[in-house]
Amino acid sequence: MPKWVAPGRVNIIGEHTDYNDGFVLPIALPLVVECLAEARTDGRVRVVSRQRPGEPVLVAVSELAAERDRVPGWSRYPLGVVFEFARRGYLRDGVDLRLDGAVPIGAGLSSSAALSCAVAIALRDLFAPSVTDRELIDLARAAENDYAGVPTGLLDQSAAILCTEGHALFLDVRGFVAAEQTAHEQIPFDLDRFGLELLVIDTGQPHALIDGGYGRRRAQCEAAAEALGVPALRDIESVAALDGIGDAVLRRRARHVVTENARVLSIAEKLRGGADPRGIGPILTAAHASLRDDFEVSTPALDAAVAAALAAGAHGARMVGGGFGGSVIALVDRERTATVADAVRNRFARSGFDAPRMFVVLPGAGAHRVG
Ligand code: GLA
Repeated sequence: MPKWVAPGRVNIIGEHTDYNDGFVLPIALPLVVECLAEARTDGRVRVVSRQRPGEPVLVAVSELAAERDRVPGWSRYPLGVVFEFARRGYLRDGVDLRLDGAVPIGAGLSSSAALSCAVAIALRDLFAPSVTDRELIDLARAAENDYAGVPTGLLDQSAAILCTEGHALFLDVRGFVAAEQTAHEQIPFDLDRFGLELLVIDTGQPHALIDGGYGRRRAQCEAAAEALGVPALRDIESVAALDGIGDAVLRRRARHVVTENARVLSIAEKLRGGADPRGIGPILTAAHASLRDDFEVSTPALDAAVAAALAAGAHGARMVGGGFGGSVIALVDRERTATVADAVRNRFARSGFDAPRMFVVLPGAGAHRVG
């Protein structure tokens, strides 16, 4: 069977900006989900996962909507993609899918988008090669939102499909949705050349978008935009304009989004000019403070990881992803990575947190066929 892969991601900067029509700057991880795929001629979809031995799922494509609540939760991601391909008229028969995922689940590294995008790229190559990247991203998001029932913005699927090795992906979400050619850009992010590494610290505290905190933040952002009379918080560029929001909590949420969009633009600008990435460190740390104090999506373990990494010499550190658990990234000199990792490990042990899982990443490639 031919094989495709799609990566998890870490977002360098631009958290909770995607659903506010704003800016993001993710890289793809070297960790991927693999999907082997082949056409079937009996109108059914069969999905097996190496991580779920003994849980094969077999459903008629025409029954996917009716069976949605009966299939296992994990299978709603691949089945949602199959459903979207069929609904849009791109899939007329069945398909066999075999999955194997190496992206940690619940770590805020987008294992779910890696899964849905691995299936999406496989189905495009097999059945609908004319589907554009833009539609594929939209399709994978629809699969996650509507079939899997998980509210996500466009960040994760865009990263999984569009990222390239050695680069961060600058994405202007509003422009991308409006199909502007310039809405995405590959920005050099060559950590290796500068003797730097990005250390990912997975706190092991699972983050789940479905739990409600994420949805509440989205609703608060919409309410803040409405209070200001703009379509989305992307339209606000100065913090002073936020005085027009009466509610103090909504004002803080909006302040995170406004300052975070500015941080994305500032980091993109620095990296575009080929500057030493060490210079972005303090901006990463400022983003963490904003997510912790204004957006209130951090946790004690995430804060402890950031504090310990900075105290041990990281140039910058912040939580990544939706929050309420998940991972931290720290930008470190290569020769200090082990010291920083030890410091985080010790801090976790002293604070009674479970031992974190840590690994070093470089910007990897987006989804592609491998065999
Ligand atoms: C999750 C969502 C993304 C994005 C981030 C926060 O990962 O899936 O769309 O909103 O949270 O930046």
